Amino acid sequence: MKQIEQKMQAATQALDFIESGMVVGIGTGTTVDLFIDRLPTVRHKIDAVVASSERTAQRLTGLGLPVVDFNEIDILPLYIDGADQCNHLGQLIKGGGGALVREKVLATAAQLFVCIVDESKTQKVFGSFPLPVEVLAMARAYVARSLAKLGGQPSYRHGVVTDNGHVLLDVAGLNMHEPIALERTVNQIPGVVGHGLFATRRADRLLIGDPQGVRTKRFKF
Ligand code: 5RP
Repeated sequence: MKQIEQKMQAATQALDFIESGMVVGIGTGTTVDLFIDRLPTVRHKIDAVVASSERTAQRLTGLGLPVVDFNEIDILPLYIDGADQCNHLGQLIKGGGGALVREKVLATAAQLFVCIVDESKTQKVFGSFPLPVEVLAMARAYVARSLAKLGGQPSYRHGVVTDNGHVLLDVAGLNMHEPIALERTVNQIPGVVGHGLFATRRADRLLIGDPQGVRTKRFKF
């Protein structure tokens, strides 16, 4: 089964988490796009949606879904997003699409975070996908040197400015055997706005599309 079909299965299953009257947070990426395309089928249940990026907001608006500013929301019952990698604990690497900072805000605020992936995203130990780090433009070189001291090889994502007006470094080679410790260490570098290691706030449910169907992993009961 092709990767896109696996993504589509996981995206379709995620619709089941939407309950009547809900405000739903929506992530960014090709897997989430497939989820968004199916949202009109459950439109009657949705009170409002909150977008993790301008790209997602445009797509939602184009389908007639009521996009609201996150500042207007007190409680976010559900957040649905994809990932670049996930491990057996539900921890994630995100940010391939560059929306990682807003994604982490929404995932952390949400009462339930459902992550939708295809089986190519599953890894026992992180490391093959470089860690995306959003950085203040004026601190790019300083942050890159600091990440190199941690053993990383940062590369500047040329020509990309995030929705928040910052730049991105993709960092290969970091030792990711202790994701929570690394998440904290990178957070503490001045100039780092955020990064794509979701270790403290991991997924509550992982829906993994594979050739047999969708496997669901629960990390919050
Ligand atoms: C965007 C993300 C995406 O969830 C991640 O890049 C996965 O994307 P895709 O569904 O296209 O494989 O973190 O910032």
